[in-house]
Amino acid sequence: MGAPSTRLSERTGHAKRLFAGLPSSYDRMGAMLSFGQDPRWRRFMVSRVAVPAGGRVLDVATGTGMVAREVVRRTGACVVAVDQSEPMLARGREETERASMAGTIRFALGRAESLPFPGDAFDAVTFTYLLRYVDDPAATLRELARVLRPGGTLANLEFHVPVQPFWKAMWMAYTRGAMPAAGRLVSRAWYDVGVFLGRSVSDFYGRIPLDEQLEMWREAGIADVRARTMSLGGGVVIWGGKGGG
Ligand SMILES: C[S@@+](CC[C@H](N)C(=O)[O-])C[C@H]1O[C@@H](n2cnc3c(N)ncnc32)[C@H](O)[C@@H]1O
Repeated sequence: MGAPSTRLSERTGHAKRLFAGLPSSYDRMGAMLSFGQDPRWRRFMVSRVAVPAGGRVLDVATGTGMVAREVVRRTGACVVAVDQSEPMLARGREETERASMAGTIRFALGRAESLPFPGDAFDAVTFTYLLRYVDDPAATLRELARVLRPGGTLANLEFHVPVQPFWKAMWMAYTRGAMPAAGRLVSRAWYDVGVFLGRSVSDFYGRIPLDEQLEMWREAGIADVRARTMSLGGGVVIWGGKGGG
């Protein structure tokens, strides 16, 4: 498997630096900062994925492999788990060994923008908290759809900005004030995440509102695209099947 290109854009380089200092506390802090909602969102996303017996699933931006392990628990599939951050993958391997799933999940260094797999290679493709970190979300979606077999499921989890004004105001106060403060109590790396995350999510939906994202999915060849916002609009799961199945 080829190593990711060393010529990184500013956005990609920032993502690599951001995650380098997080792996050891990532799972715990992710759950805490989302008030325990993010494991529930992950489970819902994986529940949208249908895989035949003995099927193969690709999890992109796998981080520490939480989605990959949930896929194995729920479907029994074999998973290839890809991320561009070696420190996150190393933690993923450790956690996966601890969960006695090392035989069913293979971790690999790679970038979502150019996946090192042939077309139509997987029965399902999952990706979580990825598109905010890439320069061209539409092209990345097409790349994710490329490696999915016709009829297979593409499923995604991402943060979302609540639409209802009261909850949006609460979300703004939390992400701009409380989250950086909570991060500061843990480490410099989590403070940086606390400062970055809310703005990154707002900026993402400012650039590509949810409706436009769903259109991008359709343009990437995904049919019957569905979206469900969760937890007062703080998270969204999007899924659909690749046409031609
Ligand atoms: C917020 S973490 C999500 C990890 C995991 N999916 C989860 O459920 O928590 C985002 C991950 O995306 C990875 N990432 C960011 N940009 C990427 C890219 N272009 N290709 C592959 N991985 C990427 C980061 O290294 C990081 O591990």
